[in-house]
Amino acid sequence: MQTVRLEKIKKQSYAWQESLRALRTNLQFCGDDKKVILFTSAMPDEGKSTVVVELARSLTESGKKVLVIDTDMRKSVLAGRLRVKVNKGELLGLSHYLSGQRPAGEVLYGTDVSGLFMVFAGPTVPNPTEILEKEYFQRLIEFGRETFDYVLIDTAPLGAAIDAALIAKKCDGAVLVVEQKRAGRRLLQGVIRQLELSEVKILGVVLNKVKKGFHGYGSYYGQYGIDNKGRGE
Ligand SMILES: Nc1ncnc2c1ncn2[C@@H]1O[C@H](COP(=O)(O)OP(=O)(O)O)[C@@H](O)[C@H]1O
Ligand SMILES: [Mg+2]
Repeated sequence: MQTVRLEKIKKQSYAWQESLRALRTNLQFCGDDKKVILFTSAMPDEGKSTVVVELARSLTESGKKVLVIDTDMRKSVLAGRLRVKVNKGELLGLSHYLSGQRPAGEVLYGTDVSGLFMVFAGPTVPNPTEILEKEYFQRLIEFGRETFDYVLIDTAPLGAAIDAALIAKKCDGAVLVVEQKRAGRRLLQGVIRQLELSEVKILGVVLNKVKKGFHGYGSYYGQYGIDNKGRGE
C-alpha cells in the first residue's frame, strides 16, 4: 500500500478546532454501532469534503483508525485539494475499483496522518450511480467496517445526484452539512426527505461557514435527529 501526504485544507482557527472536537465527541456519543457515516449536502461547496477530512484527522488524534471514501466520481476535487502525489504510477481511485479495473487493495492509500486511510474518487465516470450500486461497493464498505473504527463517506450533493441516497442505505448514519444561509429550506427539506426514504438515521447537521457573531462556532452538530429518527423540523 502506498502512502500519500495530505495538505491541510482548512486554516485551523481556534473556533474551527473547537467545533471539530465537539463534532468528534458527538459522533462518538452516537455509539459504537455508528461506524459507517455518510456526509452529504444539498449543494456543492457547502463544505462536505472539508468537514469529512478534518473530522477524520481529528478522530485519528483520539487514536481511531479511520477510512475516508470519496464517492463523488462526478466532480471530485478532493485529491487535488489535498495536493496528493503518488510516488509511482497514477493516483488510483474508487472508479478504478468499481469498474473492475483494480482490486480494492490498490485503491486504498495510507497517509502521513497516522491512522488515516483514503480511497479517492478516481477519474470521472459517465455512470457513477450505476457502478455505486454494484456489489463491489458493498464489499468495500464491509471491508471498511471490519478494518477501521470509522468509515466516513464523502458524497456528491444530494440536490444534484441521487448517489448519496443510494449509499445511505449501506450506512449506519448520515450527517448533513449545511452552509449557513445558503441552502434554502425547501431544498433542505427535499434532501432530508430523500435520506429518510433511504431509511438511514440522520445523526445531525453540521452548520458550516458560520458568520462571525453566531456564537463563534464554525459548525454545529445534532441540531435535530439524534433521537427523533431525523424527523426534526
Ligand atoms: N468552515 C469553513 N470556513 C471557510 N471555508 C470553508 C469552510 N468549509 C469549507 N470551506 C471552503 O469552501 C470550499 C468548498 O468546500 P468543500 O469541502 O470542497 O465543499 P463540498 O465538498 O461540499 O463541495 C473550499 O474552498 C473550502 O476550503
Ligand atoms: Mg466535496
